[in-house]
Amino acid sequence: MMNKTWIVTGSHTGFGKELAVKLAQEDGVNLVATSRKPGQLDFLDQYDHGQIDKEILDVTKHDQVVTTVKNAQAHFGSIDVLVNNAGIGYFGTFEESKLDDVKYMFDVNVWGLVDMTREVLPIMRKQKSGIIINFSSIGGMFSFPTLSFYHGTKYAVEGMSESLAKETKDLGIKVMVIEPSGFRTDWAGRSSHKTMPTHDDYKQFGEFIKNNEEGAHHEAGDPVKAAEIIIDEVKNHSDNLPLRLPLGKFAVDTIMDKYENTLELLKENYDISVSADQPERKE
Ligand SMILES: NC(=O)c1ccc[n+]([C@@H]2O[C@H](COP(=O)([O-])OP(=O)(O)OC[C@H]3O[C@@H](n4cnc5c(N)ncnc54)[C@H](OP(=O)(O)O)[C@@H]3O)[C@@H](O)[C@H]2O)c1
Repeated sequence: MMNKTWIVTGSHTGFGKELAVKLAQEDGVNLVATSRKPGQLDFLDQYDHGQIDKEILDVTKHDQVVTTVKNAQAHFGSIDVLVNNAGIGYFGTFEESKLDDVKYMFDVNVWGLVDMTREVLPIMRKQKSGIIINFSSIGGMFSFPTLSFYHGTKYAVEGMSESLAKETKDLGIKVMVIEPSGFRTDWAGRSSHKTMPTHDDYKQFGEFIKNNEEGAHHEAGDPVKAAEIIIDEVKNHSDNLPLRLPLGKFAVDTIMDKYENTLELLKENYDISVSADQPERKE
């Protein structure tokens, strides 16, 4: 059987690194690992027997997106799994967040993912097969104060992924969205800019931001286990991939609660909701 080629964006640290380390040791896998700077993927060299291609990729740079995909295909002949993992955070209240930082986060988390996906889709369509794994978050399903714009990026990933999955279902291309709760990566620390609230009205939210900063690398989630689960889903359950896969107890419990509460609310207001339609015309 032909090797399966995986591209992982943001393989330098966190989920992307753990995925790359596991994939580098899997039989039947070609790995395109990517980092923004040279030398950041040296940890993979010990596993390399010609099945690893290291590419420089900042997902906000279109020329690098194009080159990465082109080189991946030239090296290995196919692209079977794209993992849109690269992402950053931003903590700050809705009113006080710095819009330049926020817009940059959208460039990485949303437009970078879009660019990579649109570059790979024609290849997958031609192959009539492929899997696109998009990193969302518990924050793509549930919202906390001081993360409104991060949520904006991840809700965008959720909505786009759900729609894309419907468009590509009959083309042999599957989409899976990963929704982790807190995991021990660099996300809450160096990968998330923070703007502490200064207005008295918002001061109480400073605590939440501080706790996240200090809690970095102490979260419940283990990115090694996350990598194992994602690879197992693709290898052994690809016929039945879930569109959404929460990872971590806090993620799945919180999302279940939200759905239950939302269902209650929908039922409570059902009559008002339906009353907005034109009366049904009787022929
Ligand atoms: N950890 C969590 O608790 C958690 C929970 C839910 C969702 N997530 C999501 O998981 C994904 C991975 O994050 P992580 O937790 O593994 O954090 P991480 O350790 O900070 O890793 C993020 C990776 O993305 C890369 N990256 C940042 N900007 C990039 C850009 N413009 N182009 C290409 N790569 C870029 C980083 O590269 P550099 O090393 O060069 O900065 C790094 O390798 C993100 O989408 C994040 O939103 C994380």
